[in-house]
Amino acid sequence: MGAMYRFVFQTVFTRIDPEQAHHLVVSGLRLGHRVGAGRVLERLCRPEESLRVRALGLDWPSPFGLAAGFDKGATSVLPLAAMGFGHIEIGTVTAAAQPGNPSPRMFRLVKDRALINRMGFNNDGAEAVRPRLEQIRDRISRMKRDRRHAPVIGVNIGKTKLTPLENATEDYLVSTRMLAPVADYLVVNVSSPNTPGLRALQDIDSLRPLLSAVGAAADDAAQRHVPLLVKIAPDLADDDVDAVGALVTDLGLDGVIATNTTISREGLHSDDEQVQAAGAGGLSGPVLAERSKQVLVRLRAALPRTTAIISVGGVTSGDDVAERLALGADLVQGYTAFVYEGPFWVRRINRRLAELLQSG
Ligand SMILES: Cc1cc2nc3c(=O)[nH]c(=O)nc-3n(C[C@H](O)[C@H](O)[C@H](O)COP(=O)(O)O)c2cc1C
Repeated sequence: MGAMYRFVFQTVFTRIDPEQAHHLVVSGLRLGHRVGAGRVLERLCRPEESLRVRALGLDWPSPFGLAAGFDKGATSVLPLAAMGFGHIEIGTVTAAAQPGNPSPRMFRLVKDRALINRMGFNNDGAEAVRPRLEQIRDRISRMKRDRRHAPVIGVNIGKTKLTPLENATEDYLVSTRMLAPVADYLVVNVSSPNTPGLRALQDIDSLRPLLSAVGAAADDAAQRHVPLLVKIAPDLADDDVDAVGALVTDLGLDGVIATNTTISREGLHSDDEQVQAAGAGGLSGPVLAERSKQVLVRLRAALPRTTAIISVGGVTSGDDVAERLALGADLVQGYTAFVYEGPFWVRRINRRLAELLQSG
């Protein structure tokens, strides 16, 4: 199956725009799901029972999940669930709908199995996403009752591009009130390189009031505690990573997601010309792994064991996931390798993890 996907990738996908290929794959997934392939896939890909973990006060069918950005509008959660993800993080969702940057805005660096993207939070806005998530939550609780595979659903929120930075908190609060009630966990994304000024919100003086306000509003809107995490960039200096760790501890935040894409272009093997031609944006894939692991180790040293870390950046294999867990991550995510590895990627990861667990 892996060989078949590689063939389709080489002969079809590499000839079309990456974003078009993404839409094609997602449409295929949804169609397959509608005609009943989801149940077959679910039986084939369901994670082994031994992979169950507990984190953030929730039960996760596997420590491995899908990172934000793949399903920004919660339009394909159930078809994706059938592939065996332990969780699916939807978003980034912003308070207002917005088109994102002009296309082309996603680029493959095949030699590096990497992507560069400057999507710019293209999404339908919090109000449109809320009813989709309500429906999904209903379906997922029925799936749980029927003892089917049911992933945890996280919601990642960001700032609307047109909202000035000084009004960022209010913008995040609109999304929080709308989406916290339909989220298993909530993520404040302050680390995308594609919304001007966004990453300045990682400064402690901006981050403290933002996270406090979102945390209070989330619990208030949902009438329960909604685990809250902050997602940070790999481009933060080590001292800044430590400062975020200290702030998270001080605020009693539930966790950190590390990391988002990088603005660096170091370590690539692709032709310089190709990299230059892609232009600005966030780089993801294996080239990110080293820094992602450094940030993980730094955060683990700074945070109490009860504060969760979700490690993301350059994860391809079950062995990569196991390594992140050994370095102190509670959960692990991936995105870019999905594009290069195909639909049975998650199944392979879960199988390998179960194997590693069994061999102790
Ligand atoms: C095309 C694309 C779009 C993304 N969009 C988002 C997003 O909307 N919000 C977010 O927090 N991260 C987004 N990310 C970042 C991923 O969630 C992840 O943090 C990053 O890609 C590193 O993981 P990877 O190397 O496994 O891809 C996006 C990544 C890609 C490749």
